[in-house]
Amino acid sequence: MPMPRRAAQAFTAVLLAASTVTALSHTAAAADTLGSAAAGKGRYFGTAVAANHLGESAYAGTLDREFNQVTPENEMKWDATEGSRNTFTFGNADQIVSHAQGQNMKVRGHTLVWHSQLPSWVSGLGATDLRSAMNNHITQVMQHYKGKIYAWDVVNEAYQDGSSGALRSSPFADKLGSGFIEEAFRTARSVDPNAKLCYNDYNTDGVNAKSNAVYAMVKDFKSRGVPIDCVGFQSHFNPASPVPSDYQANLQRFADLGVDVQITELDIEGSGTAQANNYSNVVKACLAVTRCTGLTVWGVTDKYSWRSSGTPLLFDSNYGKKPAYDAALAALGGSGTGGGDGGNPGGNATCTVSFARTSDWNDGYNGEVTVKAGSAPINGWTVTLTFAPPQKVASLWNGTPSWDSSGSVMTVRAASYNGSLAAGASTSFGFTAAKNGNNSTPTLGACTAS
Ligand code: XIL
Repeated sequence: MPMPRRAAQAFTAVLLAASTVTALSHTAAAADTLGSAAAGKGRYFGTAVAANHLGESAYAGTLDREFNQVTPENEMKWDATEGSRNTFTFGNADQIVSHAQGQNMKVRGHTLVWHSQLPSWVSGLGATDLRSAMNNHITQVMQHYKGKIYAWDVVNEAYQDGSSGALRSSPFADKLGSGFIEEAFRTARSVDPNAKLCYNDYNTDGVNAKSNAVYAMVKDFKSRGVPIDCVGFQSHFNPASPVPSDYQANLQRFADLGVDVQITELDIEGSGTAQANNYSNVVKACLAVTRCTGLTVWGVTDKYSWRSSGTPLLFDSNYGKKPAYDAALAALGGSGTGGGDGGNPGGNATCTVSFARTSDWNDGYNGEVTVKAGSAPINGWTVTLTFAPPQKVASLWNGTPSWDSSGSVMTVRAASYNGSLAAGASTSFGFTAAKNGNNSTPTLGACTAS
Protein backbone atom coordinates (compact mmCIF):
# COMPACT_ATOMS: atom_id res chain seq x y z
CA MET A 1 0.00 0.00 0.00
CA PRO A 2 1.46 3.39 -0.94
CA MET A 3 2.41 5.77 1.88
CA PRO A 4 0.01 8.67 2.46
CA ARG A 5 1.33 11.78 0.73
CA ARG A 6 2.09 13.77 3.86
CA ALA A 7 3.96 10.88 5.45
CA ALA A 8 5.96 10.43 2.28
CA GLN A 9 6.95 14.10 2.29
CA ALA A 10 7.98 13.93 5.92
CA PHE A 11 10.00 10.78 5.20
CA THR A 12 11.86 12.51 2.38
CA ALA A 13 12.58 15.52 4.57
CA VAL A 14 14.10 13.32 7.27
CA LEU A 15 16.20 11.54 4.71
CA LEU A 16 17.52 14.81 3.38
CA ALA A 17 18.43 16.08 6.81
CA ALA A 18 19.99 12.85 7.97
CA SER A 19 22.10 12.35 4.90
CA THR A 20 23.45 15.85 4.42
CA VAL A 21 27.12 15.52 5.22
CA THR A 22 29.53 18.39 5.37
CA ALA A 23 33.02 17.74 4.08
CA LEU A 24 35.95 18.53 6.27
CA SER A 25 37.85 21.47 4.96
CA HIS A 26 41.57 21.18 4.60
CA THR A 27 43.45 22.00 7.75
CA ALA A 28 47.10 21.62 8.61
CA ALA A 29 46.32 19.01 11.25
CA ALA A 30 48.81 16.17 11.44
CA ALA A 31 48.33 13.17 9.18
CA ASP A 32 45.85 14.63 6.72
CA THR A 33 48.43 14.64 3.93
CA LEU A 34 50.50 11.84 2.45
CA GLY A 35 53.74 13.29 3.78
CA SER A 36 52.54 13.89 7.32
CA ALA A 37 50.81 10.50 7.50
CA ALA A 38 53.96 8.76 6.25
CA ALA A 39 56.06 10.74 8.73
CA GLY A 40 53.79 9.42 11.46
CA LYS A 41 54.98 5.96 10.41
CA GLY A 42 58.64 6.98 10.27
CA ARG A 43 58.63 7.08 6.44
CA TYR A 44 58.65 9.70 3.73
CA PHE A 45 56.14 10.02 0.90
CA GLY A 46 57.62 11.60 -2.19
CA THR A 47 57.08 12.27 -5.85
CA ALA A 48 59.03 12.73 -9.02
CA VAL A 49 59.15 16.40 -9.96
CA ALA A 50 59.81 18.16 -13.26
CA ALA A 51 61.43 21.58 -12.98
CA ASN A 52 59.36 23.05 -15.80
CA HIS A 53 56.08 22.61 -13.85
CA LEU A 54 57.20 24.26 -10.62
CA GLY A 55 55.82 27.59 -11.86
CA GLU A 56 52.27 26.18 -12.07
CA SER A 57 50.58 27.10 -8.81
CA ALA A 58 48.34 24.03 -8.54
CA TYR A 59 51.34 21.78 -9.24
CA ALA A 60 53.60 23.45 -6.69
CA GLY A 61 50.70 23.81 -4.24
CA THR A 62 49.88 20.11 -4.37
CA LEU A 63 53.55 19.16 -4.19
CA ASP A 64 54.23 21.36 -1.18
CA ARG A 65 51.10 20.33 0.68
CA GLU A 66 51.27 16.56 0.20
CA PHE A 67 54.85 15.39 -0.27
CA ASN A 68 58.01 15.46 1.82
CA GLN A 69 60.49 13.97 -0.64
CA VAL A 70 61.27 14.65 -4.29
CA THR A 71 63.13 12.88 -7.08
CA PRO A 72 64.01 14.97 -10.14
CA GLU A 73 62.25 13.12 -12.96
CA ASN A 74 64.90 13.82 -15.63
CA GLU A 75 67.05 16.73 -14.51
CA MET A 76 69.89 14.79 -12.85
CA LYS A 77 70.31 12.23 -15.62
CA TRP A 78 73.56 12.09 -17.58
CA ASP A 79 72.15 13.76 -20.69
CA ALA A 80 70.87 16.65 -18.57
CA THR A 81 73.97 17.17 -16.43
CA GLU A 82 76.88 16.35 -18.79
CA GLY A 83 75.64 16.58 -22.35
CA SER A 84 79.18 17.32 -23.50
CA ARG A 85 82.19 15.81 -21.86
CA ASN A 86 83.23 17.57 -18.70
CA THR A 87 80.80 20.45 -19.18
CA PHE A 88 78.28 20.24 -16.39
CA THR A 89 74.85 21.88 -16.38
CA PHE A 90 72.92 21.82 -13.15
CA GLY A 91 70.41 24.65 -13.58
CA ASN A 92 67.19 22.63 -13.80
CA ALA A 93 68.19 20.14 -11.13
CA ASP A 94 69.31 22.99 -8.86
CA GLN A 95 65.85 24.52 -9.19
CA ILE A 96 64.27 21.32 -7.86
CA VAL A 97 66.82 20.94 -5.07
CA SER A 98 66.37 24.51 -3.85
CA HIS A 99 62.58 24.19 -3.98
CA ALA A 100 62.85 20.99 -1.94
CA GLN A 101 65.20 22.57 0.57
CA GLY A 102 62.82 25.49 1.02
CA GLN A 103 60.09 22.99 1.89
CA ASN A 104 62.22 20.69 4.04
CA MET A 105 61.84 17.83 1.60
CA LYS A 106 64.40 15.07 1.14
CA VAL A 107 65.94 14.75 -2.33
CA ARG A 108 66.73 11.47 -4.02
CA GLY A 109 69.46 11.79 -6.62
CA HIS A 110 68.46 10.03 -9.84
CA THR A 111 70.62 8.71 -11.43
CA LEU A 112 74.38 8.47 -11.98
CA VAL A 113 75.04 5.41 -14.16
CA TRP A 114 72.28 4.27 -16.53
CA HIS A 115 72.25 3.00 -20.11
CA SER A 116 69.33 5.28 -21.01
CA GLN A 117 69.24 9.06 -21.46
CA LEU A 118 72.99 8.69 -21.93
CA PRO A 119 74.67 11.12 -24.36
CA SER A 120 76.17 9.53 -27.45
CA TRP A 121 79.66 10.79 -26.61
CA VAL A 122 79.69 8.35 -23.70
CA SER A 123 78.66 5.34 -25.77
CA GLY A 124 81.42 6.12 -28.24
CA LEU A 125 84.29 5.86 -25.74
CA GLY A 126 86.77 2.99 -25.45
CA ALA A 127 87.09 1.10 -22.16
CA THR A 128 89.80 3.15 -20.45
CA ASP A 129 88.23 6.43 -21.38
CA LEU A 130 84.76 5.22 -20.42
CA ARG A 131 85.96 4.19 -16.98
CA SER A 132 87.41 7.61 -16.30
CA ALA A 133 84.34 9.35 -17.77
CA MET A 134 82.07 7.29 -15.49
CA ASN A 135 84.10 8.04 -12.39
CA ASN A 136 84.40 11.70 -13.31
CA HIS A 137 80.65 11.97 -13.88
CA ILE A 138 79.86 10.41 -10.50
CA THR A 139 82.44 12.61 -8.81
CA GLN A 140 81.38 15.93 -10.34
CA VAL A 141 77.65 15.43 -9.93
CA MET A 142 77.90 14.13 -6.38
CA GLN A 143 80.34 16.91 -5.41
CA HIS A 144 77.91 19.52 -6.68
CA TYR A 145 75.10 18.15 -4.52
CA LYS A 146 77.16 17.01 -1.57
CA GLY A 147 75.22 17.33 1.67
CA LYS A 148 71.91 17.91 -0.14
CA ILE A 149 70.95 14.40 -1.21
CA TYR A 150 69.75 11.75 1.21
CA ALA A 151 70.20 8.88 -1.29
CA TRP A 152 71.59 8.39 -4.78
CA ASP A 153 70.47 5.87 -7.36
CA VAL A 154 74.11 5.14 -8.18
CA VAL A 155 73.32 2.49 -10.79
CA ASN A 156 69.93 2.17 -12.50
CA GLU A 157 68.49 -0.78 -14.43
CA ALA A 158 71.68 -2.79 -14.97
CA TYR A 159 69.96 -6.17 -15.31
CA GLN A 160 68.10 -7.77 -18.19
CA ASP A 161 64.43 -8.66 -18.08
CA GLY A 162 63.45 -12.29 -18.41
CA SER A 163 64.99 -15.45 -17.11
CA SER A 164 68.71 -14.96 -17.87
CA GLY A 165 69.64 -13.13 -14.69
CA ALA A 166 72.38 -11.46 -16.75
CA LEU A 167 73.42 -7.83 -16.98
CA ARG A 168 71.81 -5.97 -19.84
CA SER A 169 73.99 -4.91 -22.70
CA SER A 170 75.13 -1.30 -22.21
CA PRO A 171 78.31 0.64 -22.89
CA PHE A 172 79.24 0.06 -19.24
CA ALA A 173 78.61 -3.69 -19.09
CA ASP A 174 79.92 -4.32 -22.59
CA LYS A 175 83.19 -2.42 -22.18
CA LEU A 176 83.92 -2.57 -18.45
CA GLY A 177 82.35 -5.90 -17.57
CA SER A 178 80.21 -6.59 -14.49
CA GLY A 179 82.74 -4.83 -12.26
CA PHE A 180 81.40 -1.43 -13.33
CA ILE A 181 78.65 -1.58 -10.72
CA GLU A 182 81.06 -2.17 -7.87
CA GLU A 183 83.38 0.52 -9.19
CA ALA A 184 80.53 3.04 -9.40
CA PHE A 185 79.49 2.37 -5.80
CA ARG A 186 83.08 2.62 -4.51
CA THR A 187 83.62 5.92 -6.31
CA ALA A 188 80.30 7.25 -5.01
CA ARG A 189 81.15 6.41 -1.40
CA SER A 190 84.48 8.19 -1.67
CA VAL A 191 82.80 11.39 -2.94
CA ASP A 192 79.96 11.72 -0.40
CA PRO A 193 80.22 9.29 2.49
CA ASN A 194 77.00 10.68 4.01
CA ALA A 195 74.69 9.92 1.09
CA LYS A 196 72.94 6.56 1.01
CA LEU A 197 73.95 4.61 -2.06
CA CYS A 198 71.20 2.64 -3.83
CA TYR A 199 70.76 0.23 -6.69
CA ASN A 200 67.43 0.87 -8.49
CA ASP A 201 65.52 -1.29 -11.00
CA TYR A 202 62.10 -2.32 -12.39
CA ASN A 203 60.54 -5.78 -12.79
CA THR A 204 62.35 -6.66 -9.60
CA ASP A 205 59.26 -6.00 -7.45
CA GLY A 206 58.40 -9.67 -6.94
CA VAL A 207 60.59 -12.75 -6.62
CA ASN A 208 61.76 -13.62 -10.16
CA ALA A 209 64.95 -14.30 -12.12
CA LYS A 210 65.77 -10.61 -12.43
CA SER A 211 65.25 -9.81 -8.75
CA ASN A 212 67.17 -12.97 -7.85
CA ALA A 213 70.13 -11.64 -9.84
CA VAL A 214 69.98 -8.27 -8.04
CA TYR A 215 69.59 -10.11 -4.74
CA ALA A 216 72.74 -12.16 -5.44
CA MET A 217 74.64 -8.96 -6.29
CA VAL A 218 73.58 -7.20 -3.09
CA LYS A 219 74.42 -10.26 -1.03
CA ASP A 220 77.84 -10.43 -2.64
CA PHE A 221 78.43 -6.69 -2.09
CA LYS A 222 77.48 -6.96 1.58
CA SER A 223 79.75 -9.97 2.09
CA ARG A 224 82.74 -8.25 0.48
CA GLY A 225 82.20 -4.81 1.96
CA VAL A 226 81.31 -3.09 -1.32
CA PRO A 227 79.42 0.03 -0.18
CA ILE A 228 75.68 -0.31 -0.80
CA ASP A 229 72.98 0.98 1.53
CA CYS A 230 69.68 0.57 -0.26
CA VAL A 231 67.73 -0.99 -3.09
CA GLY A 232 65.01 0.87 -4.97
CA PHE A 233 62.03 -0.92 -6.45
CA GLN A 234 60.58 1.22 -9.21
CA SER A 235 57.11 -0.35 -9.09
CA HIS A 236 55.65 0.73 -12.42
CA PHE A 237 52.47 -1.36 -12.56
CA ASN A 238 49.73 -1.96 -15.11
CA PRO A 239 47.38 -4.84 -15.94
CA ALA A 240 50.15 -6.65 -17.83
CA SER A 241 52.56 -6.11 -14.96
CA PRO A 242 50.43 -6.04 -11.79
CA VAL A 243 51.50 -5.64 -8.17
CA PRO A 244 53.05 -9.07 -7.46
CA SER A 245 51.53 -11.15 -4.68
CA ASP A 246 54.97 -11.65 -3.14
CA TYR A 247 55.82 -7.95 -3.21
CA GLN A 248 56.17 -7.62 0.55
CA ALA A 249 58.10 -10.88 0.84
CA ASN A 250 60.50 -9.67 -1.84
CA LEU A 251 61.08 -6.33 -0.09
CA GLN A 252 61.65 -8.23 3.13
CA ARG A 253 64.25 -10.61 1.72
CA PHE A 254 66.33 -7.66 0.48
CA ALA A 255 65.94 -5.87 3.82
CA ASP A 256 67.15 -9.04 5.51
CA LEU A 257 70.45 -8.66 3.63
CA GLY A 258 71.07 -5.49 5.65
CA VAL A 259 70.00 -2.77 3.21
CA ASP A 260 67.15 -0.29 3.31
CA VAL A 261 64.51 -0.66 0.64
CA GLN A 262 62.39 2.01 -0.99
CA ILE A 263 59.52 2.19 -3.48
CA THR A 264 61.04 4.66 -5.90
CA GLU A 265 58.86 5.27 -8.97
CA LEU A 266 55.42 4.04 -8.06
CA ASP A 267 52.63 4.38 -10.57
CA ILE A 268 49.72 2.01 -11.15
CA GLU A 269 47.65 2.30 -14.31
CA GLY A 270 43.90 2.03 -13.80
CA SER A 271 41.12 3.90 -12.03
CA GLY A 272 38.55 3.76 -9.28
CA THR A 273 38.49 1.08 -6.67
CA ALA A 274 40.81 -1.36 -8.40
CA GLN A 275 43.56 1.24 -8.61
CA ALA A 276 42.84 2.36 -5.05
CA ASN A 277 43.20 -1.21 -3.73
CA ASN A 278 46.52 -1.62 -5.52
CA TYR A 279 47.88 1.58 -4.02
CA SER A 280 46.69 0.52 -0.62
CA ASN A 281 48.43 -2.85 -0.95
CA VAL A 282 51.72 -1.26 -2.00
CA VAL A 283 51.66 1.19 0.91
CA LYS A 284 50.81 -1.60 3.35
CA ALA A 285 53.63 -3.77 2.02
CA CYS A 286 56.14 -0.98 2.66
CA LEU A 287 54.79 -0.31 6.15
CA ALA A 288 55.04 -4.01 6.97
CA VAL A 289 58.79 -4.03 6.22
CA THR A 290 60.72 -2.18 8.93
CA ARG A 291 63.53 -1.24 6.57
CA CYS A 292 61.20 0.10 3.87
CA THR A 293 61.95 3.73 4.57
CA GLY A 294 59.71 5.52 2.07
CA LEU A 295 57.68 5.61 -1.09
CA THR A 296 57.89 7.87 -4.12
CA VAL A 297 55.20 8.13 -6.78
CA TRP A 298 56.35 8.90 -10.31
CA GLY A 299 54.67 12.27 -10.64
CA VAL A 300 52.23 14.62 -8.94
CA THR A 301 49.35 14.48 -11.43
CA ASP A 302 48.03 12.29 -14.23
CA LYS A 303 48.31 15.36 -16.44
CA TYR A 304 52.10 15.12 -16.58
CA SER A 305 52.66 11.41 -16.01
CA TRP A 306 55.07 9.70 -18.43
CA ARG A 307 52.15 7.26 -18.80
CA SER A 308 49.41 9.84 -18.74
CA SER A 309 46.90 7.79 -20.76
CA GLY A 310 47.00 5.10 -18.06
CA THR A 311 46.03 7.68 -15.36
CA PRO A 312 48.46 5.99 -12.95
CA LEU A 313 48.86 8.62 -10.21
CA LEU A 314 47.08 9.88 -7.10
CA PHE A 315 45.84 13.25 -8.41
CA ASP A 316 43.80 13.61 -11.58
CA SER A 317 44.65 16.15 -14.23
CA ASN A 318 42.73 18.85 -12.32
CA TYR A 319 44.73 18.02 -9.18
CA GLY A 320 41.63 16.41 -7.66
CA LYS A 321 42.28 13.61 -5.19
CA LYS A 322 41.44 10.24 -6.70
CA PRO A 323 40.11 7.20 -4.83
CA ALA A 324 43.73 5.97 -5.02
CA TYR A 325 44.77 9.01 -2.99
CA ASP A 326 42.22 8.29 -0.28
CA ALA A 327 43.30 4.65 -0.20
CA ALA A 328 47.01 5.51 0.05
CA LEU A 329 46.33 8.04 2.81
CA ALA A 330 44.13 5.60 4.71
CA ALA A 331 46.77 2.86 4.40
CA LEU A 332 49.29 5.29 5.89
CA GLY A 333 46.94 5.77 8.84
CA GLY A 334 46.03 9.28 7.69
CA SER A 335 42.85 10.97 8.65
CA GLY A 336 40.68 9.79 5.78
CA THR A 337 39.09 11.69 2.97
CA GLY A 338 37.75 15.15 2.52
CA GLY A 339 39.08 18.56 1.77
CA GLY A 340 40.62 17.91 -1.62
CA ASP A 341 41.96 21.26 -2.60
CA GLY A 342 44.67 20.54 -5.13
CA GLY A 343 43.21 22.85 -7.74
CA ASN A 344 42.62 25.41 -5.09
CA PRO A 345 45.82 25.79 -3.13
CA GLY A 346 44.10 28.28 -0.86
CA GLY A 347 42.85 25.13 0.81
CA ASN A 348 39.14 25.80 1.13
CA ALA A 349 37.49 23.61 -1.51
CA THR A 350 34.59 21.87 0.18
CA CYS A 351 31.25 20.42 -0.81
CA THR A 352 28.16 18.99 0.81
CA VAL A 353 25.78 16.34 -0.48
CA SER A 354 22.18 15.42 0.04
CA PHE A 355 20.16 12.49 -1.20
CA ALA A 356 16.56 12.04 -2.21
CA ARG A 357 14.67 8.99 -3.42
CA THR A 358 12.77 10.55 -6.28
CA SER A 359 10.57 7.66 -7.38
CA ASP A 360 9.84 4.13 -6.33
CA TRP A 361 8.20 1.09 -7.89
CA ASN A 362 7.98 -2.61 -7.08
CA ASP A 363 11.54 -3.70 -7.84
CA GLY A 364 13.35 -0.43 -8.13
CA TYR A 365 13.79 3.19 -7.26
CA ASN A 366 15.49 6.31 -8.55
CA GLY A 367 17.88 8.28 -6.38
CA GLU A 368 19.16 11.79 -6.83
CA VAL A 369 22.30 13.15 -5.16
CA THR A 370 22.79 16.89 -5.04
CA VAL A 371 26.33 18.18 -4.69
CA LYS A 372 26.78 21.73 -3.48
CA ALA A 373 30.07 23.65 -3.43
CA GLY A 374 31.03 25.33 -0.17
CA SER A 375 32.17 28.91 0.13
CA ALA A 376 34.86 28.53 -2.54
CA PRO A 377 34.63 27.40 -6.18
CA ILE A 378 35.52 23.74 -6.79
CA ASN A 379 37.01 21.89 -9.76
CA GLY A 380 35.79 18.39 -8.98
CA TRP A 381 33.87 16.29 -6.49
CA THR A 382 33.60 12.69 -5.35
CA VAL A 383 30.76 11.07 -3.42
CA THR A 384 30.44 7.54 -2.05
CA LEU A 385 27.18 5.61 -1.63
CA THR A 386 26.95 2.22 0.05
CA PHE A 387 24.10 -0.03 -1.06
CA ALA A 388 22.56 -2.87 0.93
CA PRO A 389 23.10 -6.13 -0.98
CA PRO A 390 21.63 -7.47 -3.15
CA GLN A 391 20.64 -4.02 -4.44
CA LYS A 392 22.36 -3.08 -7.69
CA VAL A 393 22.68 0.15 -9.59
CA ALA A 394 21.25 -0.40 -13.05
CA SER A 395 22.12 2.97 -14.57
CA LEU A 396 23.59 6.29 -13.56
CA TRP A 397 23.59 9.71 -15.21
CA ASN A 398 25.54 12.96 -14.77
CA GLY A 399 28.43 11.27 -12.93
CA THR A 400 31.25 8.75 -13.37
CA PRO A 401 30.78 5.67 -11.17
CA SER A 402 33.21 3.00 -10.01
CA TRP A 403 32.61 0.12 -7.60
CA ASP A 404 34.63 -1.70 -4.97
CA SER A 405 35.18 -5.44 -5.30
CA SER A 406 32.04 -6.27 -3.28
CA GLY A 407 29.95 -4.30 -5.77
CA SER A 408 28.10 -2.45 -3.02
CA VAL A 409 30.26 0.63 -2.49
CA MET A 410 29.86 3.04 -5.38
CA THR A 411 32.21 6.02 -5.76
CA VAL A 412 30.93 8.69 -8.11
CA ARG A 413 33.13 11.39 -9.56
CA ALA A 414 31.87 14.36 -11.53
CA ALA A 415 31.16 13.86 -15.22
CA SER A 416 33.41 15.84 -17.55
CA TYR A 417 30.89 18.69 -17.58
CA ASN A 418 29.70 19.12 -13.98
CA GLY A 419 32.83 19.07 -11.82
CA SER A 420 33.43 22.81 -11.78
CA LEU A 421 31.02 24.66 -9.54
CA ALA A 422 31.01 28.27 -8.45
CA ALA A 423 30.95 28.93 -4.70
CA GLY A 424 27.58 27.80 -3.33
CA ALA A 425 26.43 26.36 -6.69
CA SER A 426 24.87 22.89 -7.02
CA THR A 427 24.67 20.07 -9.49
CA SER A 428 23.18 16.61 -9.23
CA PHE A 429 23.52 13.10 -10.51
CA GLY A 430 20.93 10.37 -10.54
CA PHE A 431 20.67 6.62 -10.72
CA THR A 432 18.25 3.77 -10.96
CA ALA A 433 18.70 0.94 -8.48
CA ALA A 434 17.24 -2.55 -8.58
CA LYS A 435 15.92 -3.49 -5.13
CA ASN A 436 16.31 -7.24 -5.60
CA GLY A 437 14.05 -7.69 -2.59
CA ASN A 438 15.78 -5.13 -0.35
CA ASN A 439 14.06 -1.77 0.03
CA SER A 440 16.80 0.05 2.04
CA THR A 441 18.05 3.49 1.16
CA PRO A 442 21.80 3.66 0.45
CA THR A 443 24.13 5.30 2.96
CA LEU A 444 25.62 8.53 1.72
CA GLY A 445 29.28 9.24 2.45
CA ALA A 446 31.04 12.60 2.70
CA CYS A 447 31.62 14.76 -0.34
CA THR A 448 35.25 15.37 -1.32
CA ALA A 449 35.99 18.49 -3.33
CA SER A 450 39.06 19.46 -5.29
C1 XIL B 1 61.24 8.48 -17.36
C2 XIL B 1 60.65 9.88 -17.26
O1 XIL B 1 59.51 9.82 -16.46
C3 XIL B 1 60.30 10.40 -18.63
O2 XIL B 1 59.93 11.77 -18.56
C4 XIL B 1 61.49 10.26 -19.58
O3 XIL B 1 61.09 10.62 -20.88
C5 XIL B 1 61.99 8.83 -19.59
O4 XIL B 1 62.31 8.44 -18.26
N1 XIL B 1 62.80 4.23 -15.03
C6 XIL B 1 63.50 5.28 -14.50
C7 XIL B 1 63.05 6.66 -14.74
O5 XIL B 1 64.44 5.05 -13.73
O6 XIL B 1 64.11 7.57 -14.82
C8 XIL B 1 62.22 6.77 -15.99
O7 XIL B 1 61.71 8.09 -16.09
C9 XIL B 1 61.11 5.74 -15.97
C10 XIL B 1 61.66 4.36 -15.90
